[in-house]
This record gives sequence, structure tokens and C-alpha cells, in this order.
Amino acid sequence: MRAVLCEHYCDPKDLVIRDIPAPAPGEGQVAIDVEAAGLGYADALNVRGGYQLKRPLPFVPGSEVAGRVAAVGAGVDAALVGRRVMALSNGALAERVVASALQTVVLPDNVPSESAAGCLVTYCTALYGLETCGQLRAGETMLVLGAAGGVGLAVIDVARALGVRVIAAASSAEKIALAVKHGAEFGVDYSQAEWRKALTARNEGHTIDVVYDPVGGPYAETALRCLAPGGRFLVIGFATGEIPRIPLNLTLLKRCSIVGVDWGGYMRAAPGNNRPILERLVSLLASGRLTPTATSVHPLDEAPEMLQRLMDRRSLGKPVVRIA
Ligand SMILES: NC(=O)c1ccc[n+]([C@@H]2O[C@H](COP(=O)([O-])OP(=O)(O)OC[C@H]3O[C@@H](n4cnc5c(N)ncnc54)[C@H](OP(=O)(O)O)[C@@H]3O)[C@@H](O)[C@H]2O)c1
Repeated sequence: MRAVLCEHYCDPKDLVIRDIPAPAPGEGQVAIDVEAAGLGYADALNVRGGYQLKRPLPFVPGSEVAGRVAAVGAGVDAALVGRRVMALSNGALAERVVASALQTVVLPDNVPSESAAGCLVTYCTALYGLETCGQLRAGETMLVLGAAGGVGLAVIDVARALGVRVIAAASSAEKIALAVKHGAEFGVDYSQAEWRKALTARNEGHTIDVVYDPVGGPYAETALRCLAPGGRFLVIGFATGEIPRIPLNLTLLKRCSIVGVDWGGYMRAAPGNNRPILERLVSLLASGRLTPTATSVHPLDEAPEMLQRLMDRRSLGKPVVRIA
């Protein structure tokens, strides 16, 4: 089968495409003929060897797919064969993957494979982050940093489905427009020095109850300062490459919380942890309350370049690779 291969840690653009043997499902696993795979910043970081958990070399990058079940291993219901599914699985950028049956769910007919493939990591993170960690309530207002990235667009969709008002922060007019198209009420350009003032002026009469931050760097402290008393600052990631150091007196003065959202760690802590999140995701997709979309769709050959764009801040929204 054709697959993107990381033979040594490198810049994503230097990844190679090879013919390698297709994997077979073991006990508790399913083999999936991949139709589409999502791309995210963490996949690019993995290729660089910069992720908190290093994958042993060589490996096929990617972590989320949609496709059809080709075979099942021992202990898995054979009725799954032939069904269209989405799954979390390492090695997603290939024609076939094996995934744990626990991390595989049957797709509703109304969800195209490209949309499904790009919504596993980001939407599970958003559901876990907003509901479990952030205790988000309908009617609250959330500020999303990096709002036009994959994680950002996903959390806008999930927050809106939960009845939350969303404000986007991003670094250009084009990115703000994309976030607004996906449901943010308005956006601010946080590459401008006075962005907090601009936010406060537009947000008159409302508080900021939650910050969702996948970006870190210099934006985090300013965003925390926007929070109302009782607010929650959700730490999602550090796409700037810079881990912010927040003065703790701010949490005291604002009576607010800083909450770490490590969805991957939560999933690894117990194999069944993510199952209710996946099932909730599928039910929200089936009812049409969530509407994920692939921002761009690319052939497998373009996966290295698209991962490079994620690394270089040149990516827009959620890129997806169409494989079959
Ligand atoms: N906690 C969890 O469980 C969890 C789960 C999934 C992902 N994550 C993390 O969330 C972060 C975002 O992932 P993603 O897939 O949404 O990435 P993405 O699509 O690239 O979006 C990240 C955004 O960060 C901003 N950014 C600022 N400085 C940047 C830089 N130097 N390089 C790249 N982007 C920069 C960009 O927006 P502007 O140009 O508008 O600033 C970009 O749109 C990553 O750190 C990822 O590891 C965490």
C-alpha cells in the first residue's frame, strides 16, 4: 500500500511516500481502507520529533481517518466489515490503517468522509475541553485564540452547538473572516498591539467567561487578562512554540482558573475514557448540530507540503487528505 513515511525526524516537507506492507488487524482491532485522513499541527510536530511522546522510527504520520472496515481481528463484531467508520489511529496517512475497535465508530450517512476524517482529534478535544474541563454553560461567551486553525474552527462549532457565544482571535483579516464564517460572532486581530482594547470595545455589555488557547506565546497573558471573575482559561497547546509564564497573581485578582486540557493524556489514562466522547460526537453529527467541514482537500502526495504549512503558520482551517 502507499503511505507517507517518516524515516528520520525531519521537516514535514522532507517526508517520503513509499510502498509498504498493509497492516493486519490484531485482537480488538479493525483494518480500515482509508478514504480520507485529517492533518493537524501535532502530526507535523511528531514528524519533527518535537511532540511530547516520540513515535519510534520509521512511522507513518497521521492520527485520524474515515473509511470502510476491510477486516476485523479477534473479539470484534464481524458485522462491522464493510461499514463506513471514523477512527483515531496512528499511521493515518496510508491506504490502510488498523485502529482499536474502541476508537472506531460507525459514521452517520449524512457526514462525508472528508468532514469526518478531519473532526476526530479536534472535536473530541473540544468536547472534553469545554464540557469536562471548562464546565461551559449555555449563554456564556468564549474567546478562541488561533481561531482559524483546525482546533479553533472545531471549538467554534462545538461551542455554538452548546449555546455559547464565540469571539475569534487570529492574525489576519482572512483568518478572522474564516472564523466568522464558521460561527464566531466577530473577530479581533491579535497581531495588533492594542487587541485587548479592540476586543473590549466590540464586546461591550458582555463578559469573557472562557478562553480556549491552542497557541500560547505572548497572546496567552493578554487573553487571560480579558477574563471575567470566575472565568476559566483552557490550556490546549502551544502552536507558537513558546510556553507562556503567567503571573499567578492574575488568577487571584480575577478569581479565575487555569485548566490544562490534555485530551490525549486523558485517553491514554484508560482505554475506555474516550468512548463516551466519540459516541456523543457521532450523535451530534447525526442530528446535524455539528457541521465539520474540510477547509481544503488534497491528494496523498501533497500531505508533506500541507504538514509543512501547519508548522510554518501558513495553513488555513482544517486540511484533509483524500486517499481513496
Ligand atoms: N490539548 C489537546 O488535547 C490538544 C489536542 C489537539 C491539538 N492540540 C494542540 O493545539 C494546537 C493547534 O493545533 P491545530 O491543529 O489547530 O494547528 P493549526 O491548524 O496550525 O492552528 C494553530 C494556529 O496557531 C496560530 N499560530 C500562532 N503562531 C504560530 C506558529 N508559530 N506556528 C503555527 N501556528 C501558529 C495560527 O493562527 P494565527 O496565525 O491566527 O495566529 C494557527 O492557525 C497544537 O499545539 C496542537 O498540538 C492539543
